Amino acid sequence: MSDFTIGGIDCRTLASTCGTPLYIYDEAKIEAQLADYMTCFQSSAFETEIVYASKAFSCKAIFEKVAAAGASLDVVSGGELYLAHQAGFPMNRVFFHGNNKTEEELKLAFELGCQTIVLDNLPECLKVVSYSKRLQQDIDVMLRVNPGIEAHTHEYIMTAHTDSKFGISADKRNEIAKIVHTAESCETVHFKGFHSHIGSQITETEAFCREIELLTEFIKGMKESYGITTDFLSLGGGFGIRYLSKDKQLHVCELCETLARKCEESFKQAEIAVKKVLIEPGRSIVGEAGFALYTVGYQKETAHKSYLFVDGGMSDNIRPALYQAEYECDLANKMDALKIKKYCIAGKNCESGDILIKEATLPVAEEGDLLIMYSTGAYGYAMASNYNRMGRPAVVFVKDKAARLVLKRESWEDQMRSEANERIIGK
Ligand code: LLP
Repeated sequence: MSDFTIGGIDCRTLASTCGTPLYIYDEAKIEAQLADYMTCFQSSAFETEIVYASKAFSCKAIFEKVAAAGASLDVVSGGELYLAHQAGFPMNRVFFHGNNKTEEELKLAFELGCQTIVLDNLPECLKVVSYSKRLQQDIDVMLRVNPGIEAHTHEYIMTAHTDSKFGISADKRNEIAKIVHTAESCETVHFKGFHSHIGSQITETEAFCREIELLTEFIKGMKESYGITTDFLSLGGGFGIRYLSKDKQLHVCELCETLARKCEESFKQAEIAVKKVLIEPGRSIVGEAGFALYTVGYQKETAHKSYLFVDGGMSDNIRPALYQAEYECDLANKMDALKIKKYCIAGKNCESGDILIKEATLPVAEEGDLLIMYSTGAYGYAMASNYNRMGRPAVVFVKDKAARLVLKRESWEDQMRSEANERIIGK
């Protein structure tokens, strides 16, 4: 019976060496995605920059790959910022996002030499100005605006943009000008331009083209009415991947071509000169490169279902429970066997909603079989939790028949790290 292999190594070997549940990344696939973005997002009219959205999956090993590819990094918390520094990521290529960065996080950004802070609001801008003045330290800033497109999976709709928790509605031009002028009033704060992100897992390029049109109009308006120059424009991320074989494939190079040509055309028409356009893919760099491997445990027949229990669940992949996300799977040790039985793949967490796949047609399964779930590389490990005191799974990178452990399995002892019993107030 043939086994599923990743990077030249079969899953049975990976499971026996590293245990399960296990996240496995095909390094060559990550490298190919990064290389496609780097080579295909190009223009003769402006510079381009690829910024990996690290929230999709972060650890030193992936940051090193991003750095080696020449891409930049989007972080959204002190933790991600700290990890970037620990990984030796060039801090002049780090963009710090977030709608409510704490003082501690902003201080860390200055301390570690983070190049760019993506501002979200005026109070934050005032804080950044004050730190920059006090420390006499230069900092680049961008401002997140909300162009009024909210894109959902496979569709996009215009929404009441004032309701988004991120950024400032692009039609609040006075407020935006005030923030930019506040930043520009400080010699050491350098306003670079605007940032926007319209949603995630979008497979229709029309939504991004509409975003470019709206932002072009916006940039032109800000120049004409307030004299604000936009050197950099970030279009955000959100490029969709294939979770199911029937899902539409968004080819990275085609997408990059479309975005670059659309920017060129829009900027030319509006007679605006943007020096650099940035995009921030997260999911599309690591999503399809990642696999989750589980060991099959018990089975249970109910009136309408055949349950197949695995040794992980919502604690290592919350997406099915949280977003009704769908995945496909196979029995990794029975790839040639006939798929004749419908199973409901359930996790071991103590919650009825802990279903990884509602219905999967597989060969007849036995205890000890290995179940492989595809396209789990983005927002799987990243959103894993210790629910039920489950330890986070291990993560391996596989390439050219070699595997390396990049994140250790969290043990029960590891989870004791946070236990404390100290009197901190009162006698
Ligand atoms: N840039 C900004 C400002 C973002 O907020 C995000 C994602 C990205 C880039 C990257 O988007 P991507 O290319 O990965 O779609 N937990 C959800 C996804 C949340 C995305 C949040 N922001 C999920 O599992 O589907």
